[in-house]
Amino acid sequence: MKALVVGGGGREHALVWKLAQSPKIDKIICAPGNAGIAEMATCINISAGDISGLVDLAQKEAVDITFVGPEAPLTAGIVDVFEKAGLRVFGPTMQAAALEGSKVFAKEIMHKYNIPTAKYKVFTEAEPAFNYIREISLPCVIKAEGLAAGKGVIVAHDEETAFAAIQSIMIEGVFGSAGKRILIEECLVGEEVSILAFTDGKTVLPLLPAQDHKRVFDGDQGPNTGGMGAYCPAPVCPPDLQQKVLNEIMIPTVKAMETEGIPYKGVLYAGLMITEQGPLVLEYNVRFGDPEAQPLLVALDSDLIEIVDAVLDEKLEDIELQWKNGTTVCVVLASGGYPGDYTKGLPICGLDDVPPGIEVFHAATSKKAGEIVNSGGRVLGVTAIDKDIPSAITLAYKGVKAISFEGMHYRNDIGKKALS
Ligand code: AMP
Ligand code: GLY
Repeated sequence: MKALVVGGGGREHALVWKLAQSPKIDKIICAPGNAGIAEMATCINISAGDISGLVDLAQKEAVDITFVGPEAPLTAGIVDVFEKAGLRVFGPTMQAAALEGSKVFAKEIMHKYNIPTAKYKVFTEAEPAFNYIREISLPCVIKAEGLAAGKGVIVAHDEETAFAAIQSIMIEGVFGSAGKRILIEECLVGEEVSILAFTDGKTVLPLLPAQDHKRVFDGDQGPNTGGMGAYCPAPVCPPDLQQKVLNEIMIPTVKAMETEGIPYKGVLYAGLMITEQGPLVLEYNVRFGDPEAQPLLVALDSDLIEIVDAVLDEKLEDIELQWKNGTTVCVVLASGGYPGDYTKGLPICGLDDVPPGIEVFHAATSKKAGEIVNSGGRVLGVTAIDKDIPSAITLAYKGVKAISFEGMHYRNDIGKKALS
């Protein structure tokens, strides 16, 4: 089989790495890919947003299956376009992807089908939103409705921050049409966990619970990022809670979509807050999380192609996921200044010195004059599996210590929450 992977981050490198292990796969193409992916797949310089270019590529190369990594092409309808062209593609349709593309749609589904989530109100004008802030007690959470590359959520502890968020989203339009409507939500307190599941629209097969580290600095300090590291399984979600999440959140969501006439197929990701009242949904994503995909795909023992075929053929009930023993930890190495401005094109040293048994997934790298250089904010995901949490943490940081580039920074406490 020939597979096409759409995207060029750490998630896509992990997908390519996992697919390459399938005995069913003969060739992998990745668009656009990166310098690490290029070592195990043919990279073609077509961006993940160029849907017509990607369809042409899939047809020209006669690919048997396409995986879409990022959310933007999914919400733009890449799956519908591929299906119309008679191509097999893994991911939700445009309508189903609105679970991530429109936070208002997601909330309406949760509200209608009693899926636990924070209380919220939707605003289409700034003035009533300002007035509402004056009425409620803070903190609250302000969210742009649409995709905002992880930057559209502001937790406001005071009026000034809340007003500034409304001003920039609704009046200045910093997120364009994604900010035409906003939600103002109750602020939840607890620990976060990422629950991902494969679904064929009927059967829901959950993956191990994973935990991301969204803030840039140790101890969850500093601004939000795309994610500075992740590990699985996360003990904050033990088996009884996993079952509750499956029964009260994941299965009801997939059923709700079916009832709405919008069947959901692919990976469904619920970002949850584990509160004193139980797990509540913060957001849905319609794809693998990044960095969560990196530890999850390293921990997964099953053949990914078998799962994907079962999803597409609606035979997921026949599949049982197999996992490797132990814990998997992924530490993200970021460019100096990220999530703010940073310099690109800096040579990365030590990639060949990483001890065996550690996977270094490339998130934003390219080749310049024969050297591998950084080309974005999150550069590498150093991922290691070992028998327990402390050993996996130690092993991952052994890999981290081998690598360096100017300005490189990372969190020193990935997985630490799992120790307590
Ligand atoms: P989202 O994109 O909706 O997941 O939001 C990004 C991040 O903002 C989450 O991972 C949480 O850390 C935080 N967040 C979102 N909604 C809430 C909420 N209702 N209460 C507290 N924190 C939230
Ligand atoms: N790690 C969070 C996300 O993929 O959205």
